Amino acid sequence: MGKEIAAVIEANPRCELSYTPLRGEKWDSKKAATLDVWIDFSSPEALKDVLKKASENKTPVVCGTTGFSKKEKDLLKKYSGKIPVLWSSNMSLGVAVLNEALKSLAAISHFDFQIEEIHHNRKKDRPSGTAITLQENLEKAVGKKLPEALAIRGGGVFGVHKIFAMSDEEVLTFEHTALNRTVFAKGSVQAAEWLVKQKPGLYQIRDVLFGKKK
Ligand SMILES: NC(=O)c1ccc[n+]([C@@H]2O[C@H](COP(=O)([O-])OP(=O)(O)OC[C@H]3O[C@@H](n4cnc5c(N)ncnc54)[C@H](OP(=O)(O)O)[C@@H]3O)[C@@H](O)[C@H]2O)c1
Repeated sequence: MGKEIAAVIEANPRCELSYTPLRGEKWDSKKAATLDVWIDFSSPEALKDVLKKASENKTPVVCGTTGFSKKEKDLLKKYSGKIPVLWSSNMSLGVAVLNEALKSLAAISHFDFQIEEIHHNRKKDRPSGTAITLQENLEKAVGKKLPEALAIRGGGVFGVHKIFAMSDEEVLTFEHTALNRTVFAKGSVQAAEWLVKQKPGLYQIRDVLFGKKK
């Protein structure tokens, strides 16, 4: 993702890639102080350090890392009191719209529901962070607990998410397919351009499209 994001920034005349700290490298606090925004796609273990260092300079953070437990989610909440923090398990605009569309399933909440996701064979977490977010939003919409998302791993699939709504008479399927990883990089850079204009708070990619939830 780092390489994808660097390429998207390179092609964007409004943005400049200023600092890409590497594991084990000495921290350059002078460079860090000049940044407008951080974009972090790394690992759950790296999150605390990223938020701590960004907050020293009141720099907003866009974070796309997945596999977070309650501990990391609490960290996002804590630091969002000091700086703007935008975290989304999926930075694509299509999935942001899909999450909103799930609200309409409230009208058929008596149906059976099942989420299924497919990802490349190198993906570390399962079910995907996107499937977990879709499940949370779906359960909220239909007002009941649902079976865990099915995770399929294989080949080089960038990410497919399907939501099945099933009754005895019909099956409705919502489906999103990421055609490449650039989609996540583009979403995160768009989010970064938006986040620099926001007050401290915890945001999601949906807020870039629809405005912050009240
Ligand atoms: N939100 C979205 O839309 C979205 C889309 C795609 C992926 N993701 C998520 O983004 C994350 C990264 O994905 P990826 O495919 O780019 O993974 P990756 O290929 O494993 O890259 C992660 C990078 O972060 C670095 N890193 C990890 N932990 C670190 C630490 N503690 N300190 C310093 N550097 C650290 C790694 O450095 P080393 O090489 O030294 O380990 C590596 O360069 C995953 O959680 C993935 O699920 C999210």
